[in-house]
Amino acid sequence: MNKFQKEIIYLLNKHGIKESILETPKSSDFGDYAFPCFTLSKEFKKDPKQIANELSNKIKPTKLIEKIHAVGPYLNFFINKTEYSKDVLTEVFKKKHKFGMSISTTPNSSARNQKKRIMVEFCSPNTNKPLHLGHVRNCVIGEAVSNILKFQNIKVIKSNLVNDRGIHICKSMLAYQKWGNNKLPDIKPDFFVGTYYVMFSQKAEEEKKSGKDILEKEAQLMLQKWEQGDKKIISLWKRMNSWVYEGFNETYKSLGAEFDRFFYESKIYKEGKEIILNGLKEDVFSKDETGAIIANLEKEKLGKKVLVRADGTTIYITQDIYLAKLKFEEYKLDESIYVVGSEQNLHFQILFKILEKLGYKWAKNCRHLSYGMVYLPEGKMKSREGKVIDADDLVKEVIELARFEIKERHKDLNNKEVEKRARAIGLSALKFYLLKTDFAKDIHYDPKESISFEGETGPYVQYTYARLSSVLRKLDEKLDKKLFGKTKFNVYDEKEKEIIRMLGEFPEIARDASAQLKPSIITRYLLDLCQKTNEFYHANPILAAPEELLRARIILVHCARQVIGTGLNLLGIEAIEEM
Ligand code: ARG
Repeated sequence: MNKFQKEIIYLLNKHGIKESILETPKSSDFGDYAFPCFTLSKEFKKDPKQIANELSNKIKPTKLIEKIHAVGPYLNFFINKTEYSKDVLTEVFKKKHKFGMSISTTPNSSARNQKKRIMVEFCSPNTNKPLHLGHVRNCVIGEAVSNILKFQNIKVIKSNLVNDRGIHICKSMLAYQKWGNNKLPDIKPDFFVGTYYVMFSQKAEEEKKSGKDILEKEAQLMLQKWEQGDKKIISLWKRMNSWVYEGFNETYKSLGAEFDRFFYESKIYKEGKEIILNGLKEDVFSKDETGAIIANLEKEKLGKKVLVRADGTTIYITQDIYLAKLKFEEYKLDESIYVVGSEQNLHFQILFKILEKLGYKWAKNCRHLSYGMVYLPEGKMKSREGKVIDADDLVKEVIELARFEIKERHKDLNNKEVEKRARAIGLSALKFYLLKTDFAKDIHYDPKESISFEGETGPYVQYTYARLSSVLRKLDEKLDKKLFGKTKFNVYDEKEKEIIRMLGEFPEIARDASAQLKPSIITRYLLDLCQKTNEFYHANPILAAPEELLRARIILVHCARQVIGTGLNLLGIEAIEEM
């Protein structure tokens, strides 16, 4: 609650109103805060309109509250804008990139840590091929959500589950063993491994046409050998996985994705099986007619789920059961978030239900953050397989587009600077586009549209930031240290006051984005703030303003720039000084 809200509550209290919830009117014509009188009609046995009217006559304006006005059953309060502007701008100015951050709750005397701990698992690739288009959306969401949570003073642990074993991995291994001639990677190493996966699929397909399935059987055999710890197989596996990791790391770096903890399926799948065997003993699970261990979730309309096959081998969900537990135990989590595509919605419904059945209290604190597919315009880009788009290629493409834009604008900018800006702008275009769309929706991503400096794009927000930066650079000499002390806050016009109101709302916006896990709340806010700022910038000649006004406007520009920069950073986007 800010001091204006506190004052209003105090005034209402003084006039006999004990419980008061304030609303924010839709239009500023109805003041800054509104108090609805409906609920009072019972107590006072009067029409709410009459109550509002009487109160408006009784409550006198104060230094903070300039005007009190009744409209129908509402009592509207108009706050002192000069005082408000001063408060908001002073706070932004003082707190800088920390403006809007939730302040830490003071730990109480009991030893319990007050800080919430949340794990965000994202990316989580399989090690048989390079990262693709879907991983890009995944990583961008994972990073942004983590930043947004951290901004609320939450301890965030970013994790990545690497599915590094299983039949799909054996397929690329087998192809390499047969046709790789022990060759070392001559292209990006994860792409190199990926070619053998493709090769396997092609050869297995050809075989099938002639009615054989030797390759599939050989891959199964290899998996069994892997599970038995066959030295030769394990060493091949290690070798090829190390190539994949080398490639992945490069892609993570280019996307700006970082992790605090990697989990590996190969190290945890056995423990999952143990939990399931125990569950069988305790009748949480049962065996079906084939001998497989299943969870019967028919009552929950989730069907029967196989957990361990009849031959004793484990499946995808086996490892997840242990992993969920490991996460909570290792990190004492309050919440565990999984950023995984919507094709696994059912998987996570089943997983969380099973965890609940196993009696884990924390099961209710698991959450699947699901997102839709990403499509590119037809014929836009083709990967080597002709189907899936690789993450690296997409990143390259957006940077290429940005590079072209920059070269158009600045004919003689040096190469180093061109590259720096191209990367920042290209990634901004991609990330902003992916984040502004509702997670549940599929995305038809158009790189060209996303790179535009106008419209609802990342580069548009970056451009606004760069422009404000350039104004400040020009004014550098005039910015003295005592700027603030000398500034008058009563000189702002309506447009400027509107920007200040928006700046004042930023902490709430950041809070909402975190509570709802929706970076799109921030993208929307930034677009609106930039639009208002640009209108102001066009209408008001900043440099030509007389001293008093100039001072006030410098502060406004400074603070708007600060909040736009903070907002971009929360989305994992770099704010650059020049474009
Ligand atoms: N590796 C899996 C895939 O590519 C995603 C893993 C998601 N995380 C999990 N805990 N199941 O489909």
